[in-house]
Amino acid sequence: MGSGIAQVSAAAGFKVVVREVNQGALDKGLGRIKKFLDDGVAKGKVTEEQRATTLGNLRGVTEFADMKDCDLIIEAIIENIDDKAAAYTALEKAVGAHCIFVSNTSSLCITELASKTQRPDKFGGLHFFNPVPLMKLVEVVRGLSTSQETYDALMEFSVKIGKEPITAPDKPGFIVNRLLIPYLLDAIRCYERGLGTKEDIDKAMKLGLGYPMGPLTLLDFVGLDTTYYIANIMFDEFKDPMFAAPTLLKRMVLAGKNGRKSGEGFYKYS
Ligand code: CAA
Repeated sequence: MGSGIAQVSAAAGFKVVVREVNQGALDKGLGRIKKFLDDGVAKGKVTEEQRATTLGNLRGVTEFADMKDCDLIIEAIIENIDDKAAAYTALEKAVGAHCIFVSNTSSLCITELASKTQRPDKFGGLHFFNPVPLMKLVEVVRGLSTSQETYDALMEFSVKIGKEPITAPDKPGFIVNRLLIPYLLDAIRCYERGLGTKEDIDKAMKLGLGYPMGPLTLLDFVGLDTTYYIANIMFDEFKDPMFAAPTLLKRMVLAGKNGRKSGEGFYKYS
């Protein structure tokens, strides 16, 4: 997610500082951006000039101190409140008072994350979708303490990077995952109960409804561990059985079958 967000921001002309935990992670993320741009040039979707401008606007660092001149920080750390809070504390020592903090969380409470900073009014959510350079939507999330000025700035930024923003409430799942997660969990339940083969369930939704991916393919794409994590957060908050993780999902995650990233989920990936 982080590399995609950095890429679209750099492509829109912003000077982007990408901070990663170490040089290896930085090289991996920047490598992913280069590959996307190279593929884009090969497909005729990206010009050589756009490729050069985007790469020229990106600077990779490993220290929070190197982010001192940033006006907006988009955090895309794993969904762990303590890790995120530790980064905010380190960042607040480095950046100016005007700097807006944003989390790309898909499920954590923005008001709670804002409370971990000294600038809750300058804190909001920007929820992007994978693959970030291709998906047009961004959910702009207002916490209870997010100021009107911050919300306006996030809407404006989203438009400047070529996205279509919508306003989402600070409730688990926001708008997209509130609808997507029950659908994905139900697809697993249907598969578990023998409604059809995985290929037929996917084909049904792809060809019958024009979805770009069937639900089990999409689960592999999003990550089974990620889906399990989000479902648990939503179940904790709403106590509604539609967010309860099916037994098969839990077992696949326990077995490390997390989808594409692990080489196997509902399907195998070489
Ligand atoms: N540079 C520029 N453009 C590129 C490109 C590149 N490197 N690679 C692909 N494209 C363009 C293609 O040229 C094509 O453009 P046109 O439509 O104009 O022809 C378009 O992007 C689609 O690319 P492909 O044809 O290569 O790929 P595809 O048709 O198989 O689509 C996909 C791939 C966009 C991923 C599609 O399968 C899709 O939309 N899947 C669903 C993804 C989804 O639902 N994401 C959200 C997940 S939920 C989430 O992220 C949040 C959460 O909290 C869980």
